Amino acid sequence: MSVGIIGLGTVGTGVVKILLKKRKELERKLGFPLVIGKIADIDIKRKRAIALPENIFVTDGLGVIDDPSIDIVVELIGGIHPAKEYILKAIKKGKHVITANKALLASEGFDIFEAAQKNNVELGFEAAVAGGIPIIKIIREALIGNKIQAIYGIINGTSNYILTEMTEEGVDFSTALKEAQALGYAEADPTLDVEGIDAAHKLALLASLSFGTLFSLKEIYTEGITKITPLDINFASEFGYKIKLLAIAKQINNDIELRVHPTMLPKEYLISSVNGVFNAVYVEGDAIGPALYYGKGAGEMPTGSAVVSDIVDIARNIKTGAVNRIQGMGIQGKSGIRIKKMEDVQSCYYFRFSVFDKPGVLSKISGILGGHNISIKSVIQKERKKERVVPLVMMTHRAKEKDVVYAMKEINKLPVVSGKPLYIRVEGGEE
Ligand code: HSE
Repeated sequence: MSVGIIGLGTVGTGVVKILLKKRKELERKLGFPLVIGKIADIDIKRKRAIALPENIFVTDGLGVIDDPSIDIVVELIGGIHPAKEYILKAIKKGKHVITANKALLASEGFDIFEAAQKNNVELGFEAAVAGGIPIIKIIREALIGNKIQAIYGIINGTSNYILTEMTEEGVDFSTALKEAQALGYAEADPTLDVEGIDAAHKLALLASLSFGTLFSLKEIYTEGITKITPLDINFASEFGYKIKLLAIAKQINNDIELRVHPTMLPKEYLISSVNGVFNAVYVEGDAIGPALYYGKGAGEMPTGSAVVSDIVDIARNIKTGAVNRIQGMGIQGKSGIRIKKMEDVQSCYYFRFSVFDKPGVLSKISGILGGHNISIKSVIQKERKKERVVPLVMMTHRAKEKDVVYAMKEINKLPVVSGKPLYIRVEGGEE
């Protein structure tokens, strides 16, 4: 069975290391050898950590796709173009395809899944979500007897690393981001990580697998971590919470909430202790109840491990004549599910206002909140030091997003308020 790899970056190198180092072991498990037939990379002269024969390298992805000896094409270049064209071309040539490209599948997945089905080839994407956690397999296969009721994921390692560093080391956002980039966790364009877009890509895939409809990125409310400050992390801690970038998919009757945003979670929740580059996916199924899956979500070897798992699955399916044993998202037929508008989503909230410390400020703000049906649960205002502007923070009971948006607009206009109010949604804890 011959594998061709397009893109020898971080993940590609991990795949090659595993395939070479575990060659004998894999052969013993499979009963036949896996060989690396071709590798395409822009820079084939670069010194590499792995020794490979020069003649397997090409500089163009087509050199892999057009090679008749290759059975499985692994796309690891990322981005939309030319990744999409390479994948479609490989599929049309009857090659099975593996990709770690969550951005592509979340935005153009329909065309790709359709082409794969039409050409009766497999499309593996285990590496697209949460690297070392086999969450695609878990949802599509292991939990097939469950109706998935909710998913809460920490699925962007870079953001989790940054928030953890800010919490534990007190470093600022940009220092933590630079560290994450140096460690190879961040996307080529790190705004995808810190603006929540990478997590939204992955959530689109997890929700599609769970709820049986191909969701697109446009349907996911997305907000990143760039506005979170160490001040909010400290206040959250005083209230008994941690701040995490959470990807949420919840089914309530026939409505689905799909959202990615910074979220305050009670410190004592298991998922709140998921730190650094680690990912975790909390799944609620009607049969299993709650389950938490934990592991490394990024990096050379964990993501390489996910690609190798797809290679082996596909190789086994080819050998046993079971190609497309599971098609696409593993669900046939329509689901009748609707996506809830963000304005209708309900949650508890944390608010931080920067206010001039004058008599009557609190009553003005609480009056506006009350007028929008938002009930305050607790308030902290630190004593004033030299600055005249002080943070005023509040936790609320359950409120509607629409009401919060209107209230914030009104509060923002108050002369006693300086700068835009910040709000963070809260999951868990008392309502
Ligand atoms: N940039 C991604 C992350 C890599 O930080 O999680 C893995 O998809």
